[in-house]
Amino acid sequence: MVSAGDAKMKGLIERAKEVLNRNWRGSYTVPSATLYPHQWSWDSGFIAIGYSHYNQERAQKELISLFKGQWKNGMLPHILFNPEEKGYFPGPELWQIELSKYAPKGVLTSGITQPPVHAKAALYIYENGRDREGALRFLREIFPKLLAFHRYLYRERNPFNEGLVYIRHPWESGMDNSPVWDLPLKGITVPAELLPSYRRKDLQHVPISERPTDEEYDRFLYLLHIFKECDYNESKIFKESPFIIQGNLFNAILHSSNKALYQIAELLKEDTEEIGSWIDKTGEAFNQKLWDEEDGFYYVFDMKQKKHIKACTAAGFVPLFGGLPSKEQAEKLYKTLNKECFCRIHSNCFAVPNYDVCEEGFSPENYWRGPIWINMNWLIYKGLKDYGNLEYATYVKNSIIELVRMGGFYEYYDPFTGKGHGTKDFSWTAALLIDVLME
Ligand code: DGY
Repeated sequence: MVSAGDAKMKGLIERAKEVLNRNWRGSYTVPSATLYPHQWSWDSGFIAIGYSHYNQERAQKELISLFKGQWKNGMLPHILFNPEEKGYFPGPELWQIELSKYAPKGVLTSGITQPPVHAKAALYIYENGRDREGALRFLREIFPKLLAFHRYLYRERNPFNEGLVYIRHPWESGMDNSPVWDLPLKGITVPAELLPSYRRKDLQHVPISERPTDEEYDRFLYLLHIFKECDYNESKIFKESPFIIQGNLFNAILHSSNKALYQIAELLKEDTEEIGSWIDKTGEAFNQKLWDEEDGFYYVFDMKQKKHIKACTAAGFVPLFGGLPSKEQAEKLYKTLNKECFCRIHSNCFAVPNYDVCEEGFSPENYWRGPIWINMNWLIYKGLKDYGNLEYATYVKNSIIELVRMGGFYEYYDPFTGKGHGTKDFSWTAALLIDVLME
């Protein structure tokens, strides 16, 4: 007999599939039909993980489509633009990727990247795939592209060969206006004459109280101006740009994807030596450079100021997903996670807010400044499970299910009320809910 609880969950899975169906565009899925009407990089990775449970063909197409935008130097851009779609800013005309000799021909993309979750997604597709032969063919096709992307990161974004990759724009972190970027962004003076005159399109869909400020947008666009001045040459950008950060989230996801890539190489009987060396190097450097023993937390490292940026965001727990902390380090992370200010079990809010709720800069409804994001919860949930902290893993998983059940498929949620904010019918919320309910 099917229990009432099972029937409810089945209903939720069906609704999640409907969201993805509505956002499917024939070869890829838009994150949201209104606010994000193109293909986004890490979104597609998470979306493919959801599809891998029930539609292998779409999961494969999602990643294959994304890699059509890959640059000749291996960079995987964060947006692949649909030329028909004019409802998003900044569009291709502002990125001017033709300034780079590596830009792909005949495809419109942005000129920055995003967290490399794709090798992990490719492995999910293989592991969940009903058509194993088809999945192997897919891995054979995607493996060289994934390898080229990781090689780009280690070659171009790792200037001292430390094994830690830097990001050069807050959009590359995925956490656009996180409080962690306040300090480096405040240090940037924007020469007004260098800014294009522009009108934001995001505010036609979502109130400003839930989105980045205009001052932040000016800085986002000024960084873009610097990239173009440098013709997207990475070593020039490294010298010229004021924003160069070794991120905790980016490198933790990279480490986890390196391990997935290693497994894929083994499956395909490809050489694993280079990938193995990345795993060793990043694993060591991450714990050496991003860990703060006194605080028991992983921070980001600002390469321009040569110091940690000490803001406690949910990204500091994601190294669990990469398998990076030792047992002792993991225990310290649990302590912070299980604080009132991170909405511990039996507190009056949902876990895991993206920023410490006791901090002054916390906002329950503004984008990356505090609300709960389902992808962050998913990364933390998987990490806790891998480490055997099943009690907390279940708590975070239940929070994912409960938020969506109560509020619908929103982009992010108020940790106190559970109310959804940002855009609705958000694809990765639907995809990752499918994963936790069908895994
Ligand atoms: C946005 O438009 O907010 C995106 O996150 C930038 O890629």
